[in-house]
Amino acid sequence: MLYALQTLPGLGQLAWHEAETHLPASDGPGPKLVGLKAIPGRNDIVLVAYRGGPRPFLGLRSSEDAFVVAARGFRIATDDRGLRQIYAAVRNSEDAARAIDLWRRATGSRQQNGSFRVIARTVGKQKFLRRDIGRAVADAVREGWPGRWNLVEDDADLEVWATLVENELICALRLSDASMRQRGKARHLPASLRPALAAAMVALTDPAPDDVFLDPMAGAGTILAERAAAGRFAEIHGGDINGEALSAMQENLRGAGGRIHLSRWDARRLPLESGAVDKVAVNLPFGKQVSDEAQLPDLYRAVLAEVARVLRPGGRLVALAGDQRLLEAARASAARALRPGPRHRVIVLGQPATICEYTRQ
Ligand SMILES: C[S@@+](CC[C@H](N)C(=O)[O-])C[C@H]1O[C@@H](n2cnc3c(N)ncnc32)[C@H](O)[C@@H]1O
Repeated sequence: MLYALQTLPGLGQLAWHEAETHLPASDGPGPKLVGLKAIPGRNDIVLVAYRGGPRPFLGLRSSEDAFVVAARGFRIATDDRGLRQIYAAVRNSEDAARAIDLWRRATGSRQQNGSFRVIARTVGKQKFLRRDIGRAVADAVREGWPGRWNLVEDDADLEVWATLVENELICALRLSDASMRQRGKARHLPASLRPALAAAMVALTDPAPDDVFLDPMAGAGTILAERAAAGRFAEIHGGDINGEALSAMQENLRGAGGRIHLSRWDARRLPLESGAVDKVAVNLPFGKQVSDEAQLPDLYRAVLAEVARVLRPGGRLVALAGDQRLLEAARASAARALRPGPRHRVIVLGQPATICEYTRQ
């Protein structure tokens, strides 16, 4: 069956990597990447062929939503013929019945009938409107799919997401609810990361059971919470210069077990021994989050020098910054022991940003 994972722009490859390594290979081949689509500035969509059931998709942390694909359409025309093709592709899909069945399994629903709504999205130069796609898909569901489905505006039992990327249609049933996106996070600060992005950064640190892990500028603790959820660790250290951030962090980490130390500190002078840390992930302040951008070069230099001091040789740093040139300039002048590795372009709070990987020499 074909499933779809939805994540933040730029995270598609990392979400696929997590799916590839975490979805159990059931009685047959493991997951296979079928395609990666971008809805610019909004989402990446990862299409995954998988023989197993839907539940493991709901536990993936670098994605925000999981779907099962009920219908696909190819070479959809950009004029009104396209709407008829969309209707036919959805109405006649041989996968619809199985997709509804998998949706029932994922959500625990027993419904044969119920309410549904359609969320339509487009990328490309179609001459018709999103509203028209929604209507074509809704008609096709009502007239062709098994059961009796009643179209509503909100609070539907079944969400049908119809995405037209250029001339390819992906019509998918949403398996996840808001909890996959929010992860039960109690407190959010204006500069807080979305948990899926924090999870992708944690995955890039290569979590290991004996990790001493650090986020020196942890804000509300999103990265720390994702590290705690990513598997065993020896110690987690997190802190922030701001008292309100520390109390949000404490609240968000309350349910996490293990040796977690949270402090109010200045990341330029960490109360940690040299070489005591294996992995660091940090979301440096940037853009609208800072009152005075002129202070960033000094701050980045001082924080990178301190991270290079506390990391053991071979340790890893994964840093998210709005301006990677600023980060690179800081590294070159104050933390040459950090060897640059791969970079990943993402969009954070509507602004372009880069996740940069480093290894401590
Ligand atoms: C982009 S936010 C981090 C957000 C965090 N990843 C989250 O999800 O909530 C950057 C944080 O750096 C903190 N900060 C700024 N200067 C600092 C310093 N010198 N030492 C420690 N924290 C600092 C800010 O208070 C802010 O919470």
